[in-house]
Amino acid sequence: MAVQVPRDKGIDRTLSIFKDGYEFIQKRIQMHHLDVYETKILGQKVALLSGEEGVKLFYDNEKMKRNGAMPPHILNTLFGKGGVQTLDGGSHEHRKRLFMSLMTPERLKDLHHITTRHWKAFALEWEKKKKVILFYEALELLTRVGCEWAGLPLGDKEVSKCSKELNHLIEGASKVGPRYLVSIRARNKLEQWIGSIIQTVRQGKHEPRKGSALYEMALHKDLNGDLLDIHVAAVELLNVIRPLVAISRYLVFGAVALEKQPDWNIKIMSNDDHLRCFIQEVRRYYPFFPFLAAITTNDFVWQQYHFKQGQMVLLDLYGTNHDPRIWENPDNFEPERFKEYKGSIYDLVPQGGGDYYDGHRCPGEWPTIEVMKASFAFMSKHLEYQLPTQDMSYSLRKIPSLPKSGFVMRKVRCK
Ligand code: HEM
Repeated sequence: MAVQVPRDKGIDRTLSIFKDGYEFIQKRIQMHHLDVYETKILGQKVALLSGEEGVKLFYDNEKMKRNGAMPPHILNTLFGKGGVQTLDGGSHEHRKRLFMSLMTPERLKDLHHITTRHWKAFALEWEKKKKVILFYEALELLTRVGCEWAGLPLGDKEVSKCSKELNHLIEGASKVGPRYLVSIRARNKLEQWIGSIIQTVRQGKHEPRKGSALYEMALHKDLNGDLLDIHVAAVELLNVIRPLVAISRYLVFGAVALEKQPDWNIKIMSNDDHLRCFIQEVRRYYPFFPFLAAITTNDFVWQQYHFKQGQMVLLDLYGTNHDPRIWENPDNFEPERFKEYKGSIYDLVPQGGGDYYDGHRCPGEWPTIEVMKASFAFMSKHLEYQLPTQDMSYSLRKIPSLPKSGFVMRKVRCK
């Protein structure tokens, strides 16, 4: 007997995305204990997926593709045009190898050392200041880290401007009006700047270290043996630096978590496994990317729902990370849950799921964890500070979310 998959009543739910934010899919799916639900966005029937089974379907390349799935609003700001996110099949696999080639154990170790060195330098400067807002400082700190790791030359005077522009890319995708335009302008400037550096590498005027993102992206050849279009190479380099800077949000969320559960400060100071559990829980618990988009490649039936070829599909990342079928007490912050966690490639999905090479799972998971390890180890072992009264709450309606105060510290001392 055919079962009717639940769907939203009414004409269109586009505005509900803004109203429900990170909980847009979760609110609809989890109350029905299902993995699929139908809604209408911008006049189109959209299938919403959540949970481990939903993640598996979303990452099935026979059924889903990415080209054409990303709204122009997001390509104009967050991702740029022609990047790995929009590719499918062989061209995606080839480009993805370029990213994966940057993630060697040696280069991750470098990233750890670079991050610790910049934390030390920043913390010494903070000692001289009356008040420090961790979010803004972390943006600059990680801009320095990201550019150094990627091999991009960045003068001291350019750091502040560059970090603001990178943050405009991260925030611009959810903005409308003038703030959306600010984000587009920031993207144009950053792509031009990086494009001109790539040009100097190709002309042999600048020799970055082999294995750095700048070197590899500037000289990467596509499947036809041609160098990447300079604009696309710049988009891909930004695909390394921008998300490295976005880790600033996890640093602020993690600092808030340490404030709320101070025993974890002591635990992560003394034991690397505790540090690992804490970082995984920060990535699971706090909101970052709400959902992902794909398009179906053919007609098929799944869990009694009829998917139509060319239909838009959204995968619930935040809801899957808070799915009670996967996580016990999903809305509690409990790093201990990762002590015995075996998991699968489809349940913990703050940076996407599935396989790195076959699919679109974030190639930056190891760098993210490495930067967080270096940062929280430094904070717990070497940083003393006082916290004035402030609002550390965050909204699940604001995408991307962030604790409201940005985490204000006073009387910072470096031990
Ligand atoms: C704050 C930390 C980060 C978060 C929350 C994050 C999240 C994500 C998510 C959700 C995706 C989409 C996965 C999909 O489409 O299936 C993604 C893809 C991607 N991420 Fe990350 N990421 C982070 C850090 C990084 C870092 C540090 C890098 C690079 C060094 C990076 C590079 C990329 C690239 C290139 C893709 C596209 C992969 C593809 O389409 O095959 N990310 N990330």
